[in-house]
Amino acid sequence: MDFLNLAATSEKIPLIGLGTMGLGGYFLKDSSRDQEYINLIRNGVELGLTFIDTAEVYGAGHTEELIGKAINKKRSKVFLASKFSPEHSSFHQVVKSCEYSLKRLQTDYIDLYQIHWPNYDVPLDEIFFALEVLVKKGKIRFVGVCNFPLSWAKEVLKRIKNPPFCSIQDEFNLLNRTAEKQVISFCQKNQLTFIAYSPLDQGKFKDYKHYKMLEKIAKKYQKSVSQIILRWIINHRNVIAIPKASSLKKTLLPSILKLTVRISNKLIAFLKQRLLMYLQHLYQLLPGAIEKFI
Ligand SMILES: NC(=O)c1ccc[n+]([C@@H]2O[C@H](COP(=O)([O-])OP(=O)(O)OC[C@H]3O[C@@H](n4cnc5c(N)ncnc54)[C@H](OP(=O)(O)O)[C@@H]3O)[C@@H](O)[C@H]2O)c1
Repeated sequence: MDFLNLAATSEKIPLIGLGTMGLGGYFLKDSSRDQEYINLIRNGVELGLTFIDTAEVYGAGHTEELIGKAINKKRSKVFLASKFSPEHSSFHQVVKSCEYSLKRLQTDYIDLYQIHWPNYDVPLDEIFFALEVLVKKGKIRFVGVCNFPLSWAKEVLKRIKNPPFCSIQDEFNLLNRTAEKQVISFCQKNQLTFIAYSPLDQGKFKDYKHYKMLEKIAKKYQKSVSQIILRWIINHRNVIAIPKASSLKKTLLPSILKLTVRISNKLIAFLKQRLLMYLQHLYQLLPGAIEKFI
């Protein structure tokens, strides 16, 4: 597994982390597969996927409980990122949410504590003051935001020096490239880490019009399509991806196996093309046309 530094800190984080939304229920608790998910998280950590992303809202807290059970003997090996919900953005609620998450995660500290969605009714200064207090108490180490429009991310960077603001998390995959031109380049310019969520487009990549073409590319590189997609995402500077830990075979192994092997710059440039659909069409019209991009 390759690593990068979290923002401008000396903290090393892996380029691929474990997404946990849906493990133990999406927004309601589901205990029907607890042991399977605990094993899955343990396997992921053993395989080097030591960055774990979660949130207080996942499984109504149950996802954090499963992570707590899975990692309690390996806490120091893991970089734990959680989030508080927008309705918990007042000073006291942020502090309370953090306390509850720590309890469920069976740990004394969260490495990266993220604002899950912006709450425009609570001043940023109030939220960040709460986060500063949590840093000072040693309950959290770094701070990040998710789903922030660029204008708000800029505001955070301008006004908040303390606590250490390190990351922006947003959706980024082959079809949704909004972040590429805006938030990702902002992160690159300002030495922040971008965390790409839904990197596999929640499994929908199999329905892409150009899926056959992706399969062809994957075959050429002797990789799976999900490996090609993840490789393309983490090829962006300062970017890590957090595919959902759905199964050992489906996500965990493809996430780590040989991902460090570089694919050609030409292919990276090609995947970056916004006109991918058009090229797919071209490919169908002119078999073999794609090869010149690979
Ligand atoms: N900050 C936010 O607001 C936010 C929002 C969304 C997500 N996230 C984070 O990002 C993580 C990942 O995003 P995500 O869970 O939305 O989606 P994702 O990682 O893009 O996709 C996960 C889905 O893809 C399917 N999948 C995985 N590998 C596959 C393969 N090789 N072939 C076919 N299907 C495959 C899985 O299906 P199965 O379930 O059938 O195995 C799973 O449902 C989340 O778990 C969460 O930690 C954050």
